Amino acid sequence: MSPDGGGVWAVLAAAGRGERLGDDRPKAFARLGELPLLAEPLRRLDESDWVERIVIAAPPGWEEPCILLAEELGAGKVASVIPGGASRAESVRAALAEVAEDAAVVLVHDAARPLLPEDVIERIIAPLSEGWEAVVPALPIPDTVKRVRGDEVVETLDRESLVAAQTPQAFLAESLRGAMASNSELQAPATDCASLVEARGGRVKVVRGDARLLKVTSPADLELVASWL
Ligand code: CTP
Ligand code: MG
Repeated sequence: MSPDGGGVWAVLAAAGRGERLGDDRPKAFARLGELPLLAEPLRRLDESDWVERIVIAAPPGWEEPCILLAEELGAGKVASVIPGGASRAESVRAALAEVAEDAAVVLVHDAARPLLPEDVIERIIAPLSEGWEAVVPALPIPDTVKRVRGDEVVETLDRESLVAAQTPQAFLAESLRGAMASNSELQAPATDCASLVEARGGRVKVVRGDARLLKVTSPADLELVASWL
């Protein structure tokens, strides 16, 4: 099931405020269909054959509603619910502290990407037993991408060598712990965890992502994801 027999733990980063969504509650509790958005990725992780235990980084003050939601869903794999931090990286760091010492693999997933396909979980875990420290699902970029300074184009990048990274991202537990420990928020703010492993020279593999893993940022994204449910 995992590289050296230890378990696979999932960290669900759900602590963001959802400012761009503009709801009166955190994004994890915005409505998606009949339930809070958080219900969908939580249920899918709980039902995954690969995942043994789950730690949720909740919006501070929303730990209790997260626990109640997990109970309502019968999500028995939830090991703990902790208040998240000021940034995504801080939330993941706090959640990682709750992951068992003997965990072999940690998956880090954004609650804002509710439609998590089981085959993506399989694709990201497999390479960890082939010498990779981290695995990232990603999609090709359809648009032409330009580097800009203010409103001036500096250069046009080679799209063929670029991909758009998604979550869940899979890590050897030891690699993620090391990367998180050596990163301070004073350095460049990390929008994903794999970049911290890359920064230390770790081998990060990219595998095919999935369009359904769209990240809910704006109200239009929420409508689109709801229409795919
Ligand atoms: N996240 C987190 N802790 C934070 C900030 C973000 O756990 N302090 C999580 C979010 O809950 C989300 C994921 O990281 O699942 C990606 O972040 P993003 O899409 O930016 O969500 P928000 O930060 O909530 O949205 P916004 O930036 O619009 O406020
Ligand atoms: Mg954010």
